Amino acid sequence: MPSLANKRILLGVTGGIAAYKSAEIIRRLQDAGASVQVVMTHAATQFITPLTLQALSGNPVHLELLDTDAEAAMSHIELARWADAILIAPASADFIAKLANGEAGDLLSTLCLASRSPLAIAPAMNQGMWRNAGTQHNIERLRGRGIHIFGPTEGTQACGDVGPGRMSEPEDIAELIADLFETGSLAGKKVVITAGPTREAIDPVRYISNHSSGKMGYALAEAAAEAGAETVLISGPVNLASPDRVTTISVTSAQEMYDAALAEVEGCHLFIASAAVADYRPVQVSEQKIKKSADNMTIELVKNPDIVSAVAARQNRPFTVGFAAETANVDDGLERHARGKLERKNLDLVIANDVSDRTIGFNSDDNAVLVVEMQTSESIPKINKSILARQLIAKIADMIPS
Ligand code: PMT
Repeated sequence: MPSLANKRILLGVTGGIAAYKSAEIIRRLQDAGASVQVVMTHAATQFITPLTLQALSGNPVHLELLDTDAEAAMSHIELARWADAILIAPASADFIAKLANGEAGDLLSTLCLASRSPLAIAPAMNQGMWRNAGTQHNIERLRGRGIHIFGPTEGTQACGDVGPGRMSEPEDIAELIADLFETGSLAGKKVVITAGPTREAIDPVRYISNHSSGKMGYALAEAAAEAGAETVLISGPVNLASPDRVTTISVTSAQEMYDAALAEVEGCHLFIASAAVADYRPVQVSEQKIKKSADNMTIELVKNPDIVSAVAARQNRPFTVGFAAETANVDDGLERHARGKLERKNLDLVIANDVSDRTIGFNSDDNAVLVVEMQTSESIPKINKSILARQLIAKIADMIPS
């Protein structure tokens, strides 16, 4: 069974006779190294007591969406952020319908909406309910949203019917959850990622910068840490919290980012330059605020050092990945521009995005990219940056020497 070491699994239990098997699921997840927190629907408490699941998980069981005591300890949003994956087992027909409709009437459905982590359900219900067109339609909608469906299996059911609808066995479910993670695909590796914009001072109150929010780079750092890497994030000024399990170094200017990157590159296996580094900085930084006087003003600029090129030029270079922010789409030379950067900067891979599209790229939660290698390219359509980051990390992990 693959490892779940350091993984945090939120187990959602909904109302169905198979709820008794959730006790065993907790054990199997813990055996694989995971920490488990349990959220139950009210219907689930008719089938198994919260006390049993609390004793087995070693954590308080969460039941209420609006519970002042629970909110003080861990709010529903914190729980959603805590989870590396959410597993709903058993998932009743009713809960599946709620999930498919995007409802948020109770704690568990709210968590599912709030979380950006992988979500898996293990359906369990009577065979007629499972076969029903309504349920099948809901399952297809969930599948289309990237939700993983584990089972169900066929066999004799608690009601005496025979057919599909039995929840998969706990050990199989635990194994499928472990398979969701590229567990350890970067274990033992050091990954350095640059993120966000840089600010190039003009005077004490003004600077040159750009629209990067850092979302893409932070998502990559989160995904690299999740894949087991020792992860260092070198970040320009952004409004994002440092991801868990990541060492974040805050910098302001391109020169500071360059210094931090070259200090961290020693022993690094993978370097990803997602930062939008200012290409130029003012030659002179005025010590005093520049007074408004003449109608025109000229600022002389000088080129900043190229961070990713400097990393790629090292003798013992890490696998080096650059981004290409282009105002061009796939039909308009995106690949050609990206390949130009791949060659000029001597990179192993370039991830190109069209930053003229306001729905992706800068400051958006989503991105669509073209992954460009020397001979080939692969297009990844618009998707949430967290999901994209996991896909990119999985792809890159396969490419770097073990
Ligand atoms: O931060 P977000 O709001 O989530 O937006 C994400 C993003 C659009 C910033 C990101 O997806 C992206 O495209 N990052 C690269 C931005 C960029 O500066 O691209 P570029 O084509 O100008 O530079 C090419 C590569 O050289 C990049 O890897 C860049 O980090 C690197 N570079 C550039 C200049 C410099 N002085 N040093 C560098 O390392």
